[in-house]
Formats: sequence, structure tokens, C-alpha cells
Amino acid sequence: MLPALREKFGNPSSLHWAGQEARGSLEVARQHVANALGARPEEVYFTSGATEADNLALCGVMRRCPPERSHLVTSAVEHHAILHTARALQDEGYAVSYVPVDGKGRVDPDDVRRAIRAETGLISIMLVNNEVGTIEPVREIGMAARERGVLMHTDAVQGLSYVDTDVGDLCVDMLSLSGHKMYAPKGIGALYVRQGVILSPTLHGGPQERGLRAGTENVPGIVGLGVAVELAVRRRAEERDRLRRLRQALVDGLMELNLDVIVNGDPVHCVAHVVSMSFRGAEAEAVLFRLHNRGFAVSMGSACTAQSIEPSHVLAAMGLPSEYLRGTIRVSMGVPTTEEEVMAFLEALPEAVRAARGI
Ligand SMILES: Cc1ncc(COP(=O)(O)O)c(C=O)c1O
Repeated sequence: MLPALREKFGNPSSLHWAGQEARGSLEVARQHVANALGARPEEVYFTSGATEADNLALCGVMRRCPPERSHLVTSAVEHHAILHTARALQDEGYAVSYVPVDGKGRVDPDDVRRAIRAETGLISIMLVNNEVGTIEPVREIGMAARERGVLMHTDAVQGLSYVDTDVGDLCVDMLSLSGHKMYAPKGIGALYVRQGVILSPTLHGGPQERGLRAGTENVPGIVGLGVAVELAVRRRAEERDRLRRLRQALVDGLMELNLDVIVNGDPVHCVAHVVSMSFRGAEAEAVLFRLHNRGFAVSMGSACTAQSIEPSHVLAAMGLPSEYLRGTIRVSMGVPTTEEEVMAFLEALPEAVRAARGI
């Protein structure tokens, strides 16, 4: 990224050598993203992040669909980038069905099958839930969509570093990515769109990204995304195994502490890097604050809802008992996380929870 930030200022749309140099680095990054998805480079569109990619996928398809295809199916546990876009589409007159999840946060593909109507134009179900780490049965849902001639999108933001993201295997027509979940800069992302799927643009302007996403490209961000995706895929298997061991140590240690806690999500169909835990009768904010004072950076629910006092829509949809809802913290692990840190966290936790319960 540094050459693009320091000295290579060409605009990829310029025909001169400096522009072509920038265009070249953009296309290298596009190839990296395409490789990670088993896609063609011309099926990858760079965006400002997953929020924009999700908006483009949902609005781009629905606004292009004829009136007899004005129904969207999604789930109750999607990120707000999907849920709030779906709500905006409802305000425009589109119909939306929100399929429920079970107590582990999993969508039942049969519920999706039942929700599909003759007017359904698009299904959007996330690959991995960002709050509880549950892996959704995207392939099965994608196959059901294909059988019924409906387009399928997945928000794969939390998945790329840890689960297979081959679009053919997943059976999806569109897939959203975000850079900052794999150590690329914030404010960069991509949308995969299968060749032949036509979307309406959400931003109007220049002809960049083959007319689908107007605006001069964020060259340093795109270069960073390309390298980050390439690295994430290369170390995927090794990191997944290492984090699984850390997750096991964390969950086993947590159970031994007898803190009256529920570990949320699906113990089988889950990623290792997200561990959501709910302490009965504790205020998550107080637990978080005490852990913060001991040097730990943990979250409440999702970062995007941290400012709101509403309990998480994901945990509510999973039916988490109310006395646990407000005591939920989310621990995220990644490349820098060590076993020593997990052990130190387990040591700091009882005091933080007790203090948050006012004991
Ligand atoms: C599942 C999911 N979708 C969408 C987003 C939004 O991504 P961005 O912040 O890149 O717009 C996030 C953010 O972390 C996420 O976890």
C-alpha cells in the first residue's frame, strides 16, 4: 500500500502511464479477491465496505426486478447493513420475509423454502453471524434458491478468513466482503456478482467498476484488500486450527469458573474466532469496563450496536432468556491472540463479572 499512498498518485481511469500503473495494481487486487472466491476477476466490484456491498446487492437486484418479483427473503439475525436496507426497501413498497433462527442462531433451510413465493426475487442469508459466530447453511439455501429460480446473496464478512468461500461451492450469485475483518484497512470491501446477474447501481456518476460503482477507486485500500485476502486464504487452515484450540481452552476454562454463564451460538456449526457469552444478572457494559481496565478489548453484542441500549436483535431472535440478555459480551480472537492472553482473560473474568453483578 505504501507506494500508492506515498508516490504513485495515478488515477486508474487515466490513460497515461501513471494511470495505467494504478490500474495495474487494482487488477492484481481484483485477481486476489477472485481467486479467494473461485470467481472471475470481472465478477468482483470494489466498494467502500460491506455495508455498501450489501446495499448494492439488495437494492441493486430488487430495484431491477419486475413488480411480480418484488419479494425479498432474509433472516432475523442479519447485520444491520442487511436488515436496515431490507426495511428501506419495505418503505419503497417491496415485501420482505424474515425467517427465524433456532436457539443456536441457525436458519432452517426448510423455513427459507417455505418463505419462497412466486414473487420472490432474492434471498440474502449471511455466511457467519457476527455476534455469535454461527455458520449458516448457505449452500443448502443457495441450492433451494437455484431450484426455484431465485437469486441468492450472502454477507460473508465474518467468513473469509475461516471458512470456504468458493462461490460455486456456496451456490451463491452474490457475496459481500469487508477488508477490516482480515487486517486490510477500514473502508474497503467488495461485492462478487455472478456474470449475467444485472444490478441497478446505488451510486450514480462515472463509469468506474464497469458502471456499477461510480467514483474514483480507493487505490491504497484496494491494494490492501487484495493482499489481505491473499494472506487470509493462505493461512486459513492453520489459523482455523490454532483458533479452535484457543476457543476450546477459553470455553472449557469458562465452564470451570462456574459464573452462571451461557455460551451462545452453535457448538458444531461455528467459527472459532467469535465467542459470545452471557452472564446472568450482569450488565455487559460493567463487565466490559472492568476488563478494559485490565487491558482487554472485548465487545458487547456487535460493535455497531454498542452505542444503543437495545438488547441485541440476534440474541433476542435466538430466544436467550431475558435475565442473560443484558449480560452478553463478545470475545473476538485473531492472528495476534495468544494462549497466554486467553489464560489471563480467564483469570481476570470472575472479578469483572462479580463486580458487574454488584457482589
Ligand atoms: C456481518 C457483517 N456485515 C456487514 C458489516 C459492515 O461492514 P463494513 O463496516 O465494512 O461496512 C459488518 C461489520 O463488521 C459485519 O460484521
